[in-house]
Amino acid sequence: MTALEIRNKYLEFFKEHGHKVIPSAPLIPENDPSVLFTTAGMHPLVPYLLGEKHPQGTRLTDYQKCLRTVDIDEVGDNRHLTFFEMLGNWSLGDYFKEESIKMSYEFLTKVLNIPVEKISVTCFAGDKDAPRDEETAKIWEKCGIFKNNIYFFGKDDNWWIAGEEGPCGPDTEMFYDTGKEPCSPNCNPSCNCGKYVEIWNNVFMQYYKNKDGKYEQLKQKNVDTGLGLERMAMLLQGKETPYDTELFAPIMQKLKELATNDNISSRRIVAEHLRSSIMVISDGGRPSNIDRGYILRRLIRRMTRHLNKLGINLNLISELIDLNIENLKEMYPELINNRETIKNVIIEEKNKFMKTLEHGQKEFNKAVEKAKTENKTEIDGQTMFKLYETYGFPPEVTKELAEEQGFSVNLEEFDKLFKEHQEKSRQGSEVKFKGGLADQNEQTIAYHTATHLLHKALQIVLGDHAKQKGSNITTERLRFDFSHPQKVTKEELEEVERIVNEQIQKDLKVVCEEMTLEEAKASGATGLFEDKYGDKVKVYSIGDFSKEICGGPHVEHTKGMGTFKIKKEEASSAGVRRIKAVLIKE
Ligand code: ALA
Repeated sequence: MTALEIRNKYLEFFKEHGHKVIPSAPLIPENDPSVLFTTAGMHPLVPYLLGEKHPQGTRLTDYQKCLRTVDIDEVGDNRHLTFFEMLGNWSLGDYFKEESIKMSYEFLTKVLNIPVEKISVTCFAGDKDAPRDEETAKIWEKCGIFKNNIYFFGKDDNWWIAGEEGPCGPDTEMFYDTGKEPCSPNCNPSCNCGKYVEIWNNVFMQYYKNKDGKYEQLKQKNVDTGLGLERMAMLLQGKETPYDTELFAPIMQKLKELATNDNISSRRIVAEHLRSSIMVISDGGRPSNIDRGYILRRLIRRMTRHLNKLGINLNLISELIDLNIENLKEMYPELINNRETIKNVIIEEKNKFMKTLEHGQKEFNKAVEKAKTENKTEIDGQTMFKLYETYGFPPEVTKELAEEQGFSVNLEEFDKLFKEHQEKSRQGSEVKFKGGLADQNEQTIAYHTATHLLHKALQIVLGDHAKQKGSNITTERLRFDFSHPQKVTKEELEEVERIVNEQIQKDLKVVCEEMTLEEAKASGATGLFEDKYGDKVKVYSIGDFSKEICGGPHVEHTKGMGTFKIKKEEASSAGVRRIKAVLIKE
């Protein structure tokens, strides 16, 4: 069964069980600066898990593009991936453990035809925060899972939360027994030896872990599930690695044909990083030195380096991108229209990296001269790290070049410095994640409402052509991109500010209604996300002033939002202007 077939069967199965199919959200979260990438299917649904009403109802299913970068340096082995697709089904205060488990069991054994003896499950063993989940184990047993294949583990294995704070709960994980010999008499699903492969995780999300580490009951009991598509395809196809499935095989084969210095790990890195880069760029990511952009930069650079290592002419990148897009376009049709942008971004970054390597080479030569004059036979870790950090010069390249000149390298010292650096950046990204998923706080909600007011005020002052082109909100400011052919004058900006503040002062009531897209359009609502939510949409009205299709949430009344102040107006791209604005609390 191909990955696409698995995806289709999954969505079809849950549709038959009363779920609405919702499209994948972008890999780069909208209006959420607190996380770098979408890392799980539940991520775009957090407001709804917390009680916000979803326009499509209480049973949802989807296929979500995800990117996880914690293990980026492990890519090249036989299992780690950065980009992957997560299939999921949700109950938003609808069904709970029994129905969720029964559906999973039926899907695995009846639709995918996995023999029951190959399935093991794990349940939460219980602790001071939540009881042992005997209920889940009993349901599994009743379904037909062998008693010996049911295990209990603690929070480390059977509790799910994204980050430190947010909706969470005990989970039950399903494992596929590959049939490999057990690594020890105690071998079990929590073991990493490769005998058991996790295939699906059902989270019974009934708690909210707050900032103080306390668990409160959520307004509603939810189910959040995640099934890793690449892994499932690999197992059902009886393959050893995801690279042997149709998702990667054609590109792996092509790389093999092109390589003059073949090496499987490098081929996997190229195939994996190229796919991830393509997906990130297609969803709007661009390389830079910070955050998301830096991750993309690392992906492209590491890919380039390994193409080099394989002895493949870098001018062939364009062809490799085409091959990837051909291979993935049925699953991700958005790639077709983004082809040129994807190519331009990757090739430009590759060129920058090649220049970097040249500069690094000069620095390296200096380091060698210095070592010679000091009568040393080794390039020290500090120098290697500087070459790596400042010039993007990979340590293995330093090592190869050093050896050619009869020098050794201090990899140990480099590794130590590298780990320290990695720890720092990991902490950085975790901090980002922490504020994360539940970051619908008062301030960001107020900015969300201010964005609607601004949008309308711009149309009043500049004309109806001033339409939203992009929006981004942090706890500190809003950023809004809109179509307008020239600079907005100081007078116009003042007028926009005045109108927004006037509406805030009027203490307008914000009302949310649900209706079909057609009704929304007929009611005069501005349709920004027309194809995003499917049939039913939410329409937020702010008094009689503004009416927009939007997922929310918003403030209930405009008073108390603070004073609206535009901080900056600038060009964003051709024909698009950008405004940054803040709300100042008295
Ligand atoms: N949110 C759960 C996970 O990512 C399903 O595993």
